Amino acid sequence: MDAFVARSLDEIRFWSRIMKEHSLFLKLGFRCEDTQLIQEANAFYAIFEQIEAKSHAFSANTAPQQIRTFNAEVYNAVSHIWVFKRKVLGLILTCKLPGANNFPLLVDHVSREANYFRNRLAELNNGQLEPLADAIIDENVFFLKIMADHAKFIGHLLDPSERKLVEQARDFSHDFDTLLWQAQDLSSMRPQSQTQPLLSQFLDQNRVSVVSLRDFKKTARDLIDACRIKSIIHPLLADHVYREAEHFLTIIDMFESHLRGIPPQDLDQSAWH
Ligand SMILES: [Fe+2]
Ligand SMILES: [Fe+2]
Repeated sequence: MDAFVARSLDEIRFWSRIMKEHSLFLKLGFRCEDTQLIQEANAFYAIFEQIEAKSHAFSANTAPQQIRTFNAEVYNAVSHIWVFKRKVLGLILTCKLPGANNFPLLVDHVSREANYFRNRLAELNNGQLEPLADAIIDENVFFLKIMADHAKFIGHLLDPSERKLVEQARDFSHDFDTLLWQAQDLSSMRPQSQTQPLLSQFLDQNRVSVVSLRDFKKTARDLIDACRIKSIIHPLLADHVYREAEHFLTIIDMFESHLRGIPPQDLDQSAWH
């Protein structure tokens, strides 16, 4: 089995569904009169729905060359949705969409996810693998910010009368902001900070918080599905942020098993894919 093929299909299957759902969330936040933007969002939904279907039609036995072409095609689509998201962010920040319902931070957030996906595709096709020690810090800096944002979105989209849940969401926001600062501290101390014990403690600590945020999101998702709490959170958005936390956990687990299997002196040379 080709690792490049398996890895590419994993990333595309996960992120194309995410991009498809972003198109839906953006659409739901536009005003009725923003017909042009709604149409653009619908077009992106169809594009990523198609990409998702195609990724499931391929298998681990597909020829690497065919996957390389597919990656490039997806890269192109992701670049376009990134431009669209940044355009929408610009419209919101210049007050051209008064009364629309997407927070600027949410639009920025989904654009960062597109940028991340695009970089992953480029890395896969260029075969440029980041050393494990760098990947551990960079991926955590990226995903801790994503998790901190999610906690803030949940806190703001719950009905204000759900005081206990809003408070919990605020605690998670604070927890992840702190973890993000710690990650940035570790990043600035590079390369001296990239020792096995420090990186392993970093992963352990992050995992504890991601697990509890993941459980909180799962509970919120189930409560929203069962219509047991008051909010303006779309059930699919609740599930979406839950899946992103699960994805981060998978990455942490993969890093931990890599770290355990590598002699400390080889930490710099080993790639994580
Ligand atoms: Fe997302
Ligand atoms: Fe997200």
